[in-house]
Amino acid sequence: MTDDGQTRTDAQGKLRHLLTLENMPAQQITALLDRAESLREQTHNGAKPLDILHGRTVINLFFEPSTRTRTSFDLAAKRIGANVINFDIASSSTTKGESLIDTVHTLEAMRCDAFVVRHKESGTPEYIAEILHSDASVLNAGDGNNAHPTQGLLDALTLRRHRADFSKLTVVITGDIRHSRVARSDVHALHALGAKEIRLCSPPELSPLDGDFPHCRIFHNFDEAAEGVDVAIMLRLQKERMQSASIPSEADYFERYGLSQRRLAHAHPRCLVMHPGPMNRGVEIASDVADGPQSLILEQVSNGVFVRMAVLAELLGSAKTPRA
Ligand code: CP
Repeated sequence: MTDDGQTRTDAQGKLRHLLTLENMPAQQITALLDRAESLREQTHNGAKPLDILHGRTVINLFFEPSTRTRTSFDLAAKRIGANVINFDIASSSTTKGESLIDTVHTLEAMRCDAFVVRHKESGTPEYIAEILHSDASVLNAGDGNNAHPTQGLLDALTLRRHRADFSKLTVVITGDIRHSRVARSDVHALHALGAKEIRLCSPPELSPLDGDFPHCRIFHNFDEAAEGVDVAIMLRLQKERMQSASIPSEADYFERYGLSQRRLAHAHPRCLVMHPGPMNRGVEIASDVADGPQSLILEQVSNGVFVRMAVLAELLGSAKTPRA
């Protein structure tokens, strides 16, 4: 199956799964962002519940820890009327050796409409989409180094609320680019929406592999990469995905790649600061920058709920092909 393969859309051409933003047309991304804004209004900023997904069941299947993505999918689904099961891996029969495929088919047999999947192995959500017996949808909540499509969408939504014209934006994404599914999904969204320039900055040992990120300029010097940028997206050092201890000390890393006030002074004076979280304060970002007036970090979190409402409504809403 390819990124734009058969399982991403149903027979009517409607989005069935959200696995990646790669190759997603700008029009489709914009429609999801518009729907998120519309749901923000309709729910009175999340205070008024809707029943768009009344009778639908969403299962959160998180094989890796999460605070933002899991909670916001849970809230988003409930605020538009769905039932939500937060599947607890630690107390499930996976601890007795039940396989992923048997776990999915077991949950499917109880009837559910969507699986929200996070897994350390790239490609797991796509694999689940392939082996489903029913017409349930799969939403990728982050798979290995591969993709985190709702993060890409919520970052685009957050940026669009502050800078409507992406064609004027130079964006730098800094940190552990090689292991970052967020970088991949952000680049897919930013490129589709026409960002003027996307810069990727990392230590050489965390640089993207050849052929990855064809539309981006690669830097290893953060002072140079930050020069004049309109947006700085900072990434966490993902030690859990690194093969070796090839990274300098945290203090040295902050000196070379951390976003401090001194370094922010290289950027455009109105530069916006973003971070998907969780943050390592004092490693990739200084606290006074993370909490400062240019930071959108908590807005990203709030916007995540509306983006997740939008994708759930799109995949599971009334126009979904009726079950056989
Ligand atoms: N940004 C993000 O994916 O955060 P969580 O790991 O807390 O979900």
